[in-house]
Amino acid sequence: MKKLKVSAAVLSCFLLLSFLCACGARFGNSGTADAGEPATEPEEKLTVVGFSQVGAESDWRSANTESMKSVFTEANGYELIFEDAQQKQTNQIMAIRSFIQQEVDYIVVAPVTETGWDTVLQEAKDAGIPVIIVDRMVDVPNSNLFECWVGSDFELEARKMCEWLRWFCVKHNIDAKDIYIADIQGTIGASAQIGRTRGLKIAAEEYGWNIVAEVEGEFTRTKGYEATQQLLRKYPKMNVVYCENDNEAFGAIEAIEDAGRRVGSNIKAGEIMVLSFDGVKPEALQDVLDDSISCIAECNPLHGPRVEAIIQKLENGETPQKYEYVDEDVFSAYDQIESVIVDSKEYPITQVSEALIEKRRAEFDAGSYDEELPDNVY
Ligand code: AHR
Repeated sequence: MKKLKVSAAVLSCFLLLSFLCACGARFGNSGTADAGEPATEPEEKLTVVGFSQVGAESDWRSANTESMKSVFTEANGYELIFEDAQQKQTNQIMAIRSFIQQEVDYIVVAPVTETGWDTVLQEAKDAGIPVIIVDRMVDVPNSNLFECWVGSDFELEARKMCEWLRWFCVKHNIDAKDIYIADIQGTIGASAQIGRTRGLKIAAEEYGWNIVAEVEGEFTRTKGYEATQQLLRKYPKMNVVYCENDNEAFGAIEAIEDAGRRVGSNIKAGEIMVLSFDGVKPEALQDVLDDSISCIAECNPLHGPRVEAIIQKLENGETPQKYEYVDEDVFSAYDQIESVIVDSKEYPITQVSEALIEKRRAEFDAGSYDEELPDNVY
């Protein structure tokens, strides 16, 4: 009798389970009543991208981060793991190792400086994870350690800028030996610093300008201010401050004005000319229109869609171009120089106007600065 009781209990459990299973198979999670359909819609797998960003040192960097974040969204089929390295290579190496541990599909790195990547990139290669380098370059013995690179030709930016300065001097009868330039450099060892410093040195040697100082400015406003303050005391003859980005230029302008000097293109009348790179924020273009910055060589930060295009190519089994340079402009409000020539190629100078600034401001407000991409985006 006891035996019969147990068997009855087992049987009822079995029947209940069979009923529940049948219901599960019939309705699934979506509640669909059609028999034979899978229980759940197969979820689309997100492509996981680990992005190691340099930091948040400049307006350029913020626009670059925004460009990446706006593309690598779940809606576009991605999961983005974003790591801000706060300008430290050790943090970037830690981030890359953690991406490897998490078995991401792609690693994207904006390297703070060029050297010191061999070991960690080899680790990513051994793990079979493709690495895309963006913005600045890496200096590694074997370029097979990364899939490809996309970014700016920083030396070309500098050479365009220097050609503009040369022609400005010609048009205003300013003798080369009367030009005293202080170079407020970016983060030492970063491609943007190396290229911009080198471009200036080549031109100074060729045209006979004096470079009175090279000081590190780390691409920040604070350092730009501090450096200029000291340079003004040390080099009273300094009449051109060559800032390796806009944030340094904002600091330099403030320091010059705080010291009771005037910023502007009229060197002969004692003004101090400020030159800069990036041209990302409308405020920088406004400074050009106001003659606080005489010329800006553009550095384009909108790499999100470019990196995505590379990933799509890799997903399709195609080989992306190994090195992809982006098109960049030169901005000035001085209308006597329409273009400059570097290595036999002509580059137009874009005249900054209220309309151009308004357009840039509207793009910023709409959060769609990346609407207009240069022609060479895939
Ligand atoms: O590598 C690009 C440079 O980095 C930008 O010119 C500068 O603003 C940024 O910090």
